[in-house]
Amino acid sequence: METVTRNVKTLNPFRPGIGLFPSCLAGRVAVLNIFSSRLYSTITGSPRNILVCGNKRMGKTCLLIKMEEISFTKKLLTVSTITSPERLKSFVENIAVRLYAEVKAQGMIENGECEKLLIRLQTLPFDVHITEFELMFTEFLLTIWKNIDSLIPAIFISIDDIDLVDNATKALLFIHNVTQNLYRKNCPVIFAASCSADFYERIKQKHPKLTDRYEPIEVTKLLPSSLENAIRVPLWELEIPYDEAVVKEIARLSGGFPFYLQHLAHYVFEEMQTEIDTLALRRGYEKAMRYLKRDIFAPLEQDIPFNEKTILVAIYEEGLISFSDILKRVRLPRGSVASSLRRLKEKQMIQQDKKRYRIYDKLFGEYIQKKIKEEKGEEKRNGLL
Ligand SMILES: Nc1ncnc2c1ncn2[C@@H]1O[C@H](COP(=O)(O)OP(=O)(O)O)[C@@H](O)[C@H]1O
Ligand SMILES: [Mg+2]
Repeated sequence: METVTRNVKTLNPFRPGIGLFPSCLAGRVAVLNIFSSRLYSTITGSPRNILVCGNKRMGKTCLLIKMEEISFTKKLLTVSTITSPERLKSFVENIAVRLYAEVKAQGMIENGECEKLLIRLQTLPFDVHITEFELMFTEFLLTIWKNIDSLIPAIFISIDDIDLVDNATKALLFIHNVTQNLYRKNCPVIFAASCSADFYERIKQKHPKLTDRYEPIEVTKLLPSSLENAIRVPLWELEIPYDEAVVKEIARLSGGFPFYLQHLAHYVFEEMQTEIDTLALRRGYEKAMRYLKRDIFAPLEQDIPFNEKTILVAIYEEGLISFSDILKRVRLPRGSVASSLRRLKEKQMIQQDKKRYRIYDKLFGEYIQKKIKEEKGEEKRNGLL
């Protein structure tokens, strides 16, 4: 293979950040198949909305982007919306405005009827009764549909981070009711909303009938083989030589998290001289960790009291550990360990596998382990230990 010149670095294919579509979207084929079959049933008359749920930075936004792309290639009218902390009324208005803008941009609107309805929707009082609001939004969508039904098979609307809406449960119910109204009038619309795993679990417990109405798509950790592909494929495409062991190591360090993968791979790529080798890995890892510490780990650490950190490290070091073995390792009272474990579970720092515990985020575990060692070293130097 040819020697890589420095200008290749300007093409770093790995993107540290959030909501940035990766050069290779790895490991989501199975969930995208569910999506495609949902699109098909919408077109053939039995719509069921989708709820994409997952932890922070697990890839929800990127999955929605991919769904939009699929919907677009299948010729559906595709509208992408992003939620912010807002009331239900402004949330719905934003969807209407974006939908209208999309249809208008494609030159599909023939008369002023949709515009009139949009203005009516926007000028409704804040305390409008929810049913009236639902009916008006339904009418707006139906009017849009009347203008485009001869041109397209269905409408797809994505809603990123629906749990940011003030009353997100109400928002989900609203979307469901509107879809049902539309279904009765033969108007094929499908919504895909994303939300945090935590929010999903809470509404599932409180309002199981509501979550049952949505097709859940869980965005979870990626398998090592998928993570490896997310590194290999862009490198193949750029014809960049790499050491297979380094690719595997980046995937291992990422611990299933696509966000870490992009971050680590980005800095390793930046440090590359002629190929992705162990030197690039060592230097890139150090740089990547510097940013992760500042932006992710340090703020996360602030919410964890010292005892919980000690327990977290014990779990991290053992891989999979039982309650009694944690007790032996940390030498803290039983009750305190039990309540710490409960809190760590709530904060999704650990996972329980039958009667044993494992850490959720290994890279963060490694960070806390080093932090505790440093703190203990400092105390020793200051003569406190
Ligand atoms: N399947 C994937 N394969 C490779 N990289 C991914 C994948 N999903 C997400 N990423 C990367 O992880 C980052 C975080 O994903 P994002 O969709 O923003 O997460 P979330 O919306 O769940 O917070 C993205 O910027 C992207 O680069
Ligand atoms: Mg997101």
